Amino acid sequence: MSHLRRIVVVSKKSQIHAVAQELANEVFAADDLAEAAEIVATVSPDVVVFEGGFAPSHLRACLTRTLQDPQSSPMAVVIPAPDCPFGDDEYKQAGLVVCPGEQENLAKLREVAAAVQETAQQQILERDDTELFLDETAAAVAMAGRSPAIEQTLRMIKLVAASRCNPILIVGDTGTGKEVAARAVHTLRHRDQPFVAVNCAALTATLLESELFGHVKGAFTGADRDKTGLLETAETGTIFLDEISEMPLELQAKLLRILQERSFRKVGGVKDIECRATIIASSNRDLKKEVREKRFREDLYYRLNICPILMAPLRSPERRQDIPLLAQHFLKTSNICSHRPTPVVSITRLALEALSRHSWPGNVRELRNVIERAIMFETTDKIGLSSIIIDPIDGEPLPLAPSTDARRKDFSLEKAERELIARALHETGWQKTQAAALLGITRATLYAKVKQYNLQKDKPGVEGVSLPASEPAEALSSSAPC
Ligand SMILES: Nc1ncnc2c1ncn2[C@@H]1O[C@H](COP(=O)(O)OP(=O)(O)OP(=O)(O)O)[C@@H](O)[C@H]1O
Ligand SMILES: [Mg+2]
Repeated sequence: MSHLRRIVVVSKKSQIHAVAQELANEVFAADDLAEAAEIVATVSPDVVVFEGGFAPSHLRACLTRTLQDPQSSPMAVVIPAPDCPFGDDEYKQAGLVVCPGEQENLAKLREVAAAVQETAQQQILERDDTELFLDETAAAVAMAGRSPAIEQTLRMIKLVAASRCNPILIVGDTGTGKEVAARAVHTLRHRDQPFVAVNCAALTATLLESELFGHVKGAFTGADRDKTGLLETAETGTIFLDEISEMPLELQAKLLRILQERSFRKVGGVKDIECRATIIASSNRDLKKEVREKRFREDLYYRLNICPILMAPLRSPERRQDIPLLAQHFLKTSNICSHRPTPVVSITRLALEALSRHSWPGNVRELRNVIERAIMFETTDKIGLSSIIIDPIDGEPLPLAPSTDARRKDFSLEKAERELIARALHETGWQKTQAAALLGITRATLYAKVKQYNLQKDKPGVEGVSLPASEPAEALSSSAPC
């Protein structure tokens, strides 16, 4: 069975702790209801287990007191003590599940955990699609983002797809989503027809020509049979000419002829074949500059440039706001670690801030790679700052990128607080009760801060604070009392 993320246990019985350890990744022990309330508010557990003779109204109050959103209330289980003065019905009326404590294996608790886990997984799958996409069309073609730039692009895609515009040009830097846009136009215009893509940079002039037009048997050495070209294979669908700027000049002339006459001949052929496909070309180069430098035909440029679809770079002010949405989208759709029992489902605020500071020269593709890498590195269900590695080859950790913002952050209270907490943990040998006392905060707040700042026992806390590597970081969330 897959695991719950977090359980809070208010009990001294080792048997209950043992079962909780079995059911969840992290088990938090609370001595009383006040501490439980604080831990619930800071760690958002899936299940809280109370053992003893607590009044139902006190348990309810404990669960709701510190929760801002009553919807996020965890599943509460009560294991009444043998001399408990309250009846099962009273607990049930207060919204608690009653679990008989005598049974050796606490079967009911296991049942509750399994049900909560199932619902949670369902919720992850169904969650906030509407928040990631501008509208149903964008969701249907998986084009995430709600920025003004994406709004403009989507408007253009719809306009062009609804018209008879052919050819269609899509321009934008590498990784900005040109192919996503091309597929969107295709889906809106003729979704049931073929979509054929060819990368003009990947083939030599001769190969590209025979790939696009096809050839007849005997057209050149090695042409031992007829070959159908991609223009014909596309039928009434779409042919996507990726990186059109890389097309050799002599082939550009042939393409221009097709655009004008709407027909072509196979290499070595004499028969005219009608081209009925929508031709979409994309470029990440400045085609005007290519024209000026005589690498791209001017007449072809004007023929393509009827109603261009522009993809803005991720760093542009009109698109930047999509970074968290795209990150969330990739987190949700990536299957890079789909075999894990507890999926990574969210990103810490600090990690998101770091992502928002980067300039993303590789655009959306680079962001997708960073998120997938973070999913692989992350050991909890929430991507923290330390799992965000922008360029593993550079070895340059992103959060230290010397932007003005980042430099300003060096003087932030957050940084000072992180340093202080790391020191306290180091000096107390990661004894959480002592460290919390030293800092003048509760254990629950300490749990939350350690999580927020991604402090780990075997990792450096901040510059100048190196922590010993004797115990695993998970020790902090163990239920063993300090
Ligand atoms: N708006 C978006 N929503 C979700 N995923 C996106 C979006 N834009 C791009 N992607 C993803 O980012 C990656 C790069 O996108 P795509 O291949 O369309 O970029 P491109 O502009 O064609 O890049 P290149 O110039 O390198 O060919 C793909 O995995 C794509 O699915
Ligand atoms: Mg592409």
